[in-house]
Amino acid sequence: MSLVCRPARAEDLVRADALVVASINDLTVRHGFGPMATAGASSFQSFSLKDDPAGLWVAEDGGEIVGFAWSWVCGDLWFLAQLFVDPSRQGQGIGNILLERTMEHAGQSGAAHKALITFTFNRVSQGLYMRHGLFPKMPVYFFSVPRERALQSLPETALRAVPIDAGTATLKRLAAIDSHAIGTSRDKHHRYLLDDPTSDGTLLYAGNDCVGYCYTSSSGHIGPLAATGPDRLRDVFVAALKLASDRGAGTVSAFLPGTCDGALSLAIDQGMRITFPMLLMASPGYGDWAQYLPRNPGFM
Ligand SMILES: CC(C)(COP(=O)(O)OP(=O)(O)OC[C@H]1O[C@@H](n2cnc3c(N)ncnc32)[C@H](O)[C@@H]1OP(=O)(O)O)[C@@H](O)C(=O)NCCC(=O)NCCS
Repeated sequence: MSLVCRPARAEDLVRADALVVASINDLTVRHGFGPMATAGASSFQSFSLKDDPAGLWVAEDGGEIVGFAWSWVCGDLWFLAQLFVDPSRQGQGIGNILLERTMEHAGQSGAAHKALITFTFNRVSQGLYMRHGLFPKMPVYFFSVPRERALQSLPETALRAVPIDAGTATLKRLAAIDSHAIGTSRDKHHRYLLDDPTSDGTLLYAGNDCVGYCYTSSSGHIGPLAATGPDRLRDVFVAALKLASDRGAGTVSAFLPGTCDGALSLAIDQGMRITFPMLLMASPGYGDWAQYLPRNPGFM
């Protein structure tokens, strides 16, 4: 059989997702973390495929999908959302070929910065990314806690919560916050989240000043979350913990970068536990996130 690397099509996404889930769980079980992924999360892939098909690739052998790569671009940031190879086909150069294709996507888009979030415990992915000019920037921890524990002595928040709407003024505000926090506006991704029935977006105000935003999921997950300055992040995270707890799920969770000291201390105080250690890797000069919590390793 011969390997073919081709652009992904809509009908590939369910099979590609099954491959991604199997590959993640093979890795996390092998490293003693237990299974991490469950199937059925392909709506953001579908959104990206419609938005910019040049970012999604499959490796196929004899009709079987054996690898999948997916990247998206916002402004001058290129982000590798997923790169996965079937566990039985790893170490044969397939990941490298797929990464080269998505790197071409970065080149065509003219992106100045490249980034991704990978597993701290995966030596292969980190070595492969370094080979392509993406270097370890900082840890990003996935924290989780039972809802009741998160609420125990949670500081009161003085921030006023206002639902995010799709109006021009709100989108402009979000673009300004994101530009400061992560160096680019993510207009299309806010529109995606606004259409996601499981996500609630909230702007947070101190008096009349908007100091950040957060999204909470029906699963109790927080993110993305951004503050207007590093000094505001902890307060915005306090409000997000309350909003996420109010969703009524059994647990509350968030991804916290290692540079977000105030939010990390609060997470520990609220009994949150590090479940999965992840790592932001980026092209030199990108990734000083001191006022941003990503949603997950694919969405950023
Ligand atoms: C990471 C992954 C996509 C790589 O794909 P792959 O097809 O296995 O990788 P390739 O065979 O193309 O390339 C492997 C390269 O990794 C690098 N590498 C492997 N082990 C390494 C180590 N211990 N130290 C440094 N670099 C290492 C080398 O550059 C190697 O290439 P070489 O063997 O030619 O020297 C794949 O292994 C996978 O799906 N892993 C599990 C899921 C995962 O972590 N995905 C990344 C999520 S962001």
